[in-house]
Parts: sequence; structure tokens; C-alpha cells
Amino acid sequence: MTEPLLDRLFAAALQARENAYAPYSNFHVGVALLDENGHIHAGCNVENAAYPQGVCAEAGALSAMVLSGGRRLAAVLVVGDGPRPVTPCGGCRQKLREFGDDALPILVADPSGLRQRYTLGQLLPDSFGPEDLQKEAES
Ligand code: THU
Repeated sequence: MTEPLLDRLFAAALQARENAYAPYSNFHVGVALLDENGHIHAGCNVENAAYPQGVCAEAGALSAMVLSGGRRLAAVLVVGDGPRPVTPCGGCRQKLREFGDDALPILVADPSGLRQRYTLGQLLPDSFGPEDLQKEAES
């Protein structure tokens, strides 16, 4: 990925994180997704007084991508702030898997910049996906 594209993804995720609604955990996350058309889709976490109803930033960004017609992930960038790099939760790894393969880059940053690069295959090895149902994600 080119440096300017990485910068755009980082800026979009950072800006999304500004709007995170996380009054319960106070843990703000922003995500930017790059789709197969070169479009960027952002999301932030949205918590709820009924705690399990909260939605992760990744899930919000995926909804935005699908709504605008994107169907394949080219890259994911997550911005959070913690002692360790903030990687997508288990459920979100599977959600990302629907639209990405093992080689999908998942870049993890904090507000001051990139911390770690993973692939989806590293974070979700031997995964189950649409191909196992003899199906590609529907367009
Ligand atoms: N969270 C995300 O939105 N994405 C991640 O990658 C890690 C965790 C959110 C869920 C919850 O609102 C808060 O961070 C604390 O878990």
C-alpha cells in the first residue's frame, strides 16, 4: 500500500474515532476500510446502556461499506489506544472474513501512528468463510 493511501486510511479512522460513543468503557475506537473500488469507509464503536447491544467500530464500517456497494476488503486500519495494539475482537474478525481473505492487511494504530501490521490469516487462522458454503459474498 502506498504511503498516501495509508495516510488517508489513518486520517479517516482517527476522525471516526473522534465520534465514538463509548460512555461505558471510555475506550474509543475508529476504523477505516478500503474496498475493491478504492473507496474508504469509516466506523466508530457505539455502546449501549444494555451493554451487549453495543456495536464495534469494525461492524459499523462494514455496514457503511456494504451500503455503498463495496463487497471486497483491500485493507483495514484500526485506531485505538491501549497498552497493546488494539486488534479486532473475535466476532469482528469473522465479520471481516466475509469480505476478505487470509492476505487481507489489518493495520493497527494508536493516535500517534501505525503500531503493528497483521493479516487476517494471522488473526483468524484456518477460518470458515463463504467459500465453505460454495458461495462468494453476494453482490
Ligand atoms: N472495540 C471496537 O470497537 N473495536 C475493536 O477492535 C476493539 C474493541 C470496542 C468495543 C467496545 O465499545 C469498546 O471497544 C471496549 O471493548
